[in-house]
Amino acid sequence: MRGLSGKAGVIAGGGRGIGAATATRLAEEGAAVVIGDIEGEWAEATAARIRDAGGRAIGLGFNICDPASVGELVQTCLESFGRLDYFHANAAGGTQGDIDALTIDLDTFDRSIALNLRSYLICTQAAVPAMLERGGGAMLYTSSGAAYGGAPWQVAYPVAKNGVHALMRHVAARYGKQSVRANVVCPGLVLTEAAMEHLNEDYREAGLKRAASPRLGEAKDIAAMATFLMSDDAEWITGQVISVNGGMAMRD
Ligand SMILES: NC(=O)c1ccc[n+]([C@@H]2O[C@H](COP(=O)([O-])OP(=O)(O)OC[C@H]3O[C@@H](n4cnc5c(N)ncnc54)[C@H](O)[C@@H]3O)[C@@H](O)[C@H]2O)c1
Repeated sequence: MRGLSGKAGVIAGGGRGIGAATATRLAEEGAAVVIGDIEGEWAEATAARIRDAGGRAIGLGFNICDPASVGELVQTCLESFGRLDYFHANAAGGTQGDIDALTIDLDTFDRSIALNLRSYLICTQAAVPAMLERGGGAMLYTSSGAAYGGAPWQVAYPVAKNGVHALMRHVAARYGKQSVRANVVCPGLVLTEAAMEHLNEDYREAGLKRAASPRLGEAKDIAAMATFLMSDDAEWITGQVISVNGGMAMRD
């Protein structure tokens, strides 16, 4: 992909799954990557695999809910690689007890919003100033088909992910003239470690039935789009929610 060689950025939530696959693809395309994860050992292991393959990567433990911790990721990127061209806010979680609007307790709701939405504002506040100073950059946020699925079994997570869409559109509109792009990648059902842990076989089978594709997603499917959106090939793409879902939902 065009324009990634020599660039550098951060994957926030890249210890495994979609984030790790995106870090790996970015490195294959020649970009340096700082990988942060609450599971610091996962982040370090992903970075070590990238370095063993000849790429440039640093893995660090961090907490996406803590502004100082997110700031350290950006600082590490600037100090180690001299620039911040892209930032991918990807971490998520906190779905336990998130069942429906009448049973969810407010603490569970607040925790989900903090981890799945407020944290992405924290990422924006940490990354965009460095991009503005350099003359531009690419923000990418991971959402979910759950944002528009209308699922009856979950409330806070889709609310948070819809908020991410609004945050992304704001960033795209507010900083676009200063060459900061912002987009959302919206995965369908992707067979990551987390999906295998949390979703049972019936759910996966139902997902496959809904898909137009003969298979469910793999982390590399999302990584390819994420990497493209952070490359110069996507320099005229901003303010968009891009679904990568094997046709599980078809939208204009
Ligand atoms: N797998 C799917 O089917 C699917 C579908 C739709 C959307 N998504 C989205 O894709 C993204 C990645 O999902 P995944 O399937 O790879 O799951 P995952 O849970 O493996 O990835 C999230 C990563 O974030 C890290 N993390 C969690 N809390 C953190 C915190 N407080 N601070 C820092 N890191 C933290 C986790 O340790 C993990 O490595 C998420 O935003 C998720 O909502 C996934």
